[in-house]
Amino acid sequence: MNRVVLAYSGGLDTSVSIIWLQEKYDAEVYTVTVDVGQGGDFKLIEDLAHKLGVVKHFFIDAKKDFVENYVFPSIKANGLYGDKYPLSSALSRPLIAKNVVEVAEAVKADAVAHGCTGKGNDQVRIESTVKALNPNLKVLAPVREWGLDREFELEYAKKHGIPFTREKIYSIDQNLWGRSIECGPLEDIELEPPSEVFKWTVDPEEAPDKAEYVTIGFENGVPTSLNGEVLDGVSLLMRLNEIAGRNAVGRIDHIEDRIVGIKTREVYECPAAACIIEAHKDLEKLVLTPSQLSFKELVDRQWSFLVYAGLWYEPLKQDLEEFIDSSQRFVEGWVKLKLYKGGLRVVSRMSNYSLYSKDLATYSVKSVFDQSAAPGFIEIWSLSLRTAHTVRKNRER
Ligand code: ARG
Repeated sequence: MNRVVLAYSGGLDTSVSIIWLQEKYDAEVYTVTVDVGQGGDFKLIEDLAHKLGVVKHFFIDAKKDFVENYVFPSIKANGLYGDKYPLSSALSRPLIAKNVVEVAEAVKADAVAHGCTGKGNDQVRIESTVKALNPNLKVLAPVREWGLDREFELEYAKKHGIPFTREKIYSIDQNLWGRSIECGPLEDIELEPPSEVFKWTVDPEEAPDKAEYVTIGFENGVPTSLNGEVLDGVSLLMRLNEIAGRNAVGRIDHIEDRIVGIKTREVYECPAAACIIEAHKDLEKLVLTPSQLSFKELVDRQWSFLVYAGLWYEPLKQDLEEFIDSSQRFVEGWVKLKLYKGGLRVVSRMSNYSLYSKDLATYSVKSVFDQSAAPGFIEIWSLSLRTAHTVRKNRER
């Protein structure tokens, strides 16, 4: 008999996968549910797994690991894909896969399984991770291999006594760093997402009439306090999701290029991520030199791409992180944000490593900047362009 460890969310796809693995693959199925802050009733999920006949169910609280080892590096890298998406789902996949591999090794399984379809990024992220960590494990993807659609799954589930309703029209994935919503009416890109898809953020029209301020403190490039109170990462994200969410901050709607070549419309709500990345970028502008900043933009973009594309274990990522970590040594201080009806603005900031000098920047006569040095600087700074201009000016094109 085959022994398979399945990444189990308790949803329709992975529940149907349990039966499929038992029936078609003649497998003893073990399930693993990894808590990355998605919420929900984990006891119910465990009960359902047992009801479906799994040999053993594992629950792993990975919230702290997720925040400290996946979200924090992404904050340091201002991790965004397509300049918009904070990589929330992308960051969780290598962590889920790592935990599934660990269980598979512990129970001496021959294969691991997941419920991803063949059209998305998640299959790439999970399988690349499994293959990196344990090349001997087979990977099974019932939903992909079987080409399952929802209607069939519902029928199949009913036949096996699994209680799933037809109501669910959206595909949702969530964790502490954000929530992604796909399918249903969202596939019509000319339509505004209906309010019902949003659960963590209110509509701007429903937000308070008074602005709310929030101050985020950073050390070594990661958030460590909120409004002056020192918090662990998990608590900080939970609290900030709530604060920003009630001010309608963090909704994202953009066109995304999946790794598999499909353009999709993706809708997210990432209240804490929106605030933290905005604040972190602002603090970096204060403490890093222009050379560091412009080079880091390239590094950040490349890091984000690798993570989006499922290449968590690509050695280049670690090389980039050496640079990023070094750049973050002085990213310390605080940034104050003003949240108002979906709007998010940095309004003040402070750092002991600030490179801003009021004495230099001020327009008042007290400035210590030596203006008499400027003409000489301009003379040399513009020398090459002036030379080119003089040489070329008599040609028409
Ligand atoms: N487009 C996003 C990404 O590739 C979201 C994926 C959401 N996953 C899901 N199973 N609904 O990261």
